[in-house]
Amino acid sequence: MSTQGTGDVVVIKDLVKTFNKGKVQAVKGISFSVPRGQRLVLMGLSGSGKSTTLRMLNALNTPTSGTVEVLGQEPAKLKGKDLRHFRRRVAFIFQHFNLVGRLSAIENVLSGALGAVRGPRYGLMAYPDEMRQEAMAHLERVGLAEKAFQRANTLSGGQQQRVGIARALMQKPDLVLADEPVASLDPESSMQVMTLLKELTEEENLTVVCSLHQVELAIGWADRMIGLRGGQIVLDQDARSLSPEEASVIYTSVDPELQ
Ligand SMILES: Nc1ncnc2c1ncn2[C@@H]1O[C@H](COP(=O)(O)OP(=O)(O)OP(=O)(O)O)[C@@H](O)[C@H]1O
Ligand SMILES: [Mg+2]
Repeated sequence: MSTQGTGDVVVIKDLVKTFNKGKVQAVKGISFSVPRGQRLVLMGLSGSGKSTTLRMLNALNTPTSGTVEVLGQEPAKLKGKDLRHFRRRVAFIFQHFNLVGRLSAIENVLSGALGAVRGPRYGLMAYPDEMRQEAMAHLERVGLAEKAFQRANTLSGGQQQRVGIARALMQKPDLVLADEPVASLDPESSMQVMTLLKELTEEENLTVVCSLHQVELAIGWADRMIGLRGGQIVLDQDARSLSPEEASVIYTSVDPELQ
């Protein structure tokens, strides 16, 4: 939920990330800020640095140099309780959904709740009534109320990702990160999931940073598009005025290092 005033939710300056003692340069000095409420898509070929960038927003990767500020904090500097508190405010939607397969849809949604009981062994009844009602309302919102008590691993991919979205909303996040949220889905489910994600984040005025491969999905979905190629920004534009021809810069003259 947007509880703070206006301002930038994400501020990235001269960000560099290398792996293998500098042999792999995944991100080569990028800078951008994301204002509150913006829906930003990071586009680029495989290996262009999208996941690495997203992961630095949530302290899953630490910068080699440069700075990342999210919600006024530097994720890489947080530890213990502060890091846990920070991660509650930043929801992450994964390509492979990352649900606990043997738990029901509603238990997976509940695991996103603030102060959620840790570990599945406590079962559904360990959660207070109002939390269960809230989880059910989120499932209803993503069109899955009737699947609430079904094991997550028996749901289709599209349904699993809708559970993933409901879990993210249960967190009441200030920022939503999504790394290729529809890459494992067929075109129809992809469209459904992206539409849902747009509607829900619009309703809550949430800030979203989402990586995507497909230009055609991003145009019409995003407010803004940043194109990465070989770890550098090659395009940063209002997504509503972007033509597919302009977007093609992301996919041409691929950095030979990456081939
Ligand atoms: N943990 C790691 N160790 C070594 N190299 C890594 C690591 N993580 C990423 N890389 C490298 O960094 C570069 C950028 O990878 P990244 O995963 O950010 O790309 P991406 O744009 O998300 O690609 P995709 O579309 O395939 O998900 C790649 O060359 C990748 O091999
Ligand atoms: Mg990736």
